[in-house]
Amino acid sequence: MTNTPAPILNLGEANTLAFNLSHAPWTTQGVRCVVSGTPGSGKSHLMAVMMEEVHGLGVPFCVVDPDGEHRSLCELVNVTRVEVATDDFSGEWIDDALYLLDQGGGVVLDLAILDEERQRDCYAWFARRLLDSQRRQARPQAMFLFVEEVHIFAPQKLVRGARDATAVTKSIARRGRKFGVNTVMGSQRPGDVEKDILGQSNVRFFGRIEIKLDYQAIQTYLPGSVSLRTLRDLETGEFFLSMSGRLTRVHIRARRTSDMSPTPQIAVRQRSIFELIDAPESVRSARCK
Ligand SMILES: Nc1ncnc2c1ncn2[C@@H]1O[C@H](COP(=O)(O)OP(=O)(O)OP(=O)(O)O)[C@@H](O)[C@H]1O
Ligand SMILES: [Mg+2]
Repeated sequence: MTNTPAPILNLGEANTLAFNLSHAPWTTQGVRCVVSGTPGSGKSHLMAVMMEEVHGLGVPFCVVDPDGEHRSLCELVNVTRVEVATDDFSGEWIDDALYLLDQGGGVVLDLAILDEERQRDCYAWFARRLLDSQRRQARPQAMFLFVEEVHIFAPQKLVRGARDATAVTKSIARRGRKFGVNTVMGSQRPGDVEKDILGQSNVRFFGRIEIKLDYQAIQTYLPGSVSLRTLRDLETGEFFLSMSGRLTRVHIRARRTSDMSPTPQIAVRQRSIFELIDAPESVRSARCK
């Protein structure tokens, strides 16, 4: 008799934060996770750690990546970057992505080259096809859909061209469970995200925030003891985890894949006299005035 290991996501150092997906509530509800926090609070890092863990279980996943910051997930075996070009209206990339998922792989859907409006269109198109394809299967296999910067795709205030993307995101939040679509959605501004997304989630990670409006958007999920000041003081990589009526302060482990979104450091640059000498005459005379 072979013992199948339990599907566990280890998000903290030394098993300090483990999600056993063979236990309730995941077995009945699936995973609907939201990650929020100010820029640099560690959301993408947390999502990348989750992807590493999901990949380790052999579960297919796709990350919708508007800034191209998850390309390094391709360091993992069987994870492929599918880039959508500005002039590609064929939709072949959707077939490619769905095929890779069907084969049990990981997909980084890289939308970085597109403007926000086209990112929304492509995402809506893809997410609809993904939901349909899962729905058509008699026994759909469980998969994970990660969406970065979800306020772009499902904004709280309806912006031009966001109707389809918002509608499909809400459909997935409400009905994805039945079709094996587990979700992890990240945003800098919880107050700018369609409120159903936060409302329908069953795991919430709240990272550092600085703005009162964002605090108000998440306040219902926090006990009174967690003030805006407490959230402001969180370190990068630290989150309040709200789940099954409990709140825990957690720290996310280091990632195994490369960090593609380090903050470029500001350093003093020594100027050389040659910079001026090499400059075209028009620049030199303008600078010398
Ligand atoms: N748990 C952690 N351990 C070590 N480094 C971390 C951790 N979390 C984040 N970092 C580092 O902090 C930096 C910012 O993290 P990250 O890119 O995840 O921020 P973010 O919240 O996604 O920011 P943005 O909203 O601008 O996309 C990265 O260089 C990342 O590697
Ligand atoms: Mg990020």
